[in-house]
Amino acid sequence: MEKNNTGSDFLHVGNRLLEWYRNNARDLPFRQTKDPYKIWICEIVFQQTRINQGLNHYNNFIKRFPDVKTLAEAEENEVLLYWKGLGYYSRAINIHKASQQIMNDYQGVFPAQYEEILKLKGVGKYTAAAVSSICFGGRMPAVDGNFYRVLSRFFADDFDISNSRAFTYFSELAALVMPENVGDFNQAMMDIGSEICKPKNPLCGECPINEDCIAFSLQKISDYPVKTKKVKAEDLALTYYFVHRNEQFLIRQRGDDFIWKKLFEFPSSISAEMEAFITNSKTITHKLTHKNLIIEIFNVNVTSEALWNDFIAENQYEITDIQGSHEKSFPKPLENYIQNSLKD
Ligand code: ADE
Repeated sequence: MEKNNTGSDFLHVGNRLLEWYRNNARDLPFRQTKDPYKIWICEIVFQQTRINQGLNHYNNFIKRFPDVKTLAEAEENEVLLYWKGLGYYSRAINIHKASQQIMNDYQGVFPAQYEEILKLKGVGKYTAAAVSSICFGGRMPAVDGNFYRVLSRFFADDFDISNSRAFTYFSELAALVMPENVGDFNQAMMDIGSEICKPKNPLCGECPINEDCIAFSLQKISDYPVKTKKVKAEDLALTYYFVHRNEQFLIRQRGDDFIWKKLFEFPSSISAEMEAFITNSKTITHKLTHKNLIIEIFNVNVTSEALWNDFIAENQYEITDIQGSHEKSFPKPLENYIQNSLKD
């Protein structure tokens, strides 16, 4: 039996995945290139975003920032603007910082080694493995949720994927099936994971490795992957005031700590005199990864010009209107609120 460099008997599995990939790879714009900059951006965009939801963003981002230098020289707010709608904005801030790191520490040349790529801001083991394998022939598996699912089913392995050692454990399992061409293997696993070995209703009949898949032969696919620990999200109450007058309203930019880094928001306090202008309030709930937000937004229709001017003079708010707000990135619930305020 053919063996790979781990001495494993499962090399044929990796090769079957490669063959499947050659015939079935999704036709994606970032697959026409080996430019590490573009691959890096695509890995960050599509880590938490489905391909069809993020493809336009990816294309627009690359069009505006076609290389590391252009990105590094851009204003952070413009980078955030191009990220608008993708969520998880810290990804955009990190991408921007990493591009400056590449300019400063690597003379503008994208680093080729896994360990160097890993030093870039916002780049974790998955991304470093993906970029180094796809662009530079690196030999690390790009282990993510797809790998956990495919491998735990294939080996009917009940290792808990919420265990902190899961990444190392599944990296070692991946090494058993990993063939010579690791870049294509990683991408084959991504495609198999999202198109065939799906979390729900997997298409096992179409899977190129179903013959050797233990969970499939036991008809126990839905038992894998095993995940026990549930991270409990905390409730967090927020108060905002949508302070407006003559189609204009007040906003400010958040800092870069806590949630919603660098996004724009409404004032979170008003003066006692302003309270007289509150016409209604709306409570919106919104889930973040580790927080359940309960956001109360008071609608403050300031009919007094003097109070409006005083309030602006006393606080460092920006004045904007609906048109202007399109040029800024807001957290999703505030963006929705602004959109709905148009309809009132
Ligand atoms: N998701 C993230 N990166 C990807 C890639 N290179 N191919 C397909 N899906 C992906």
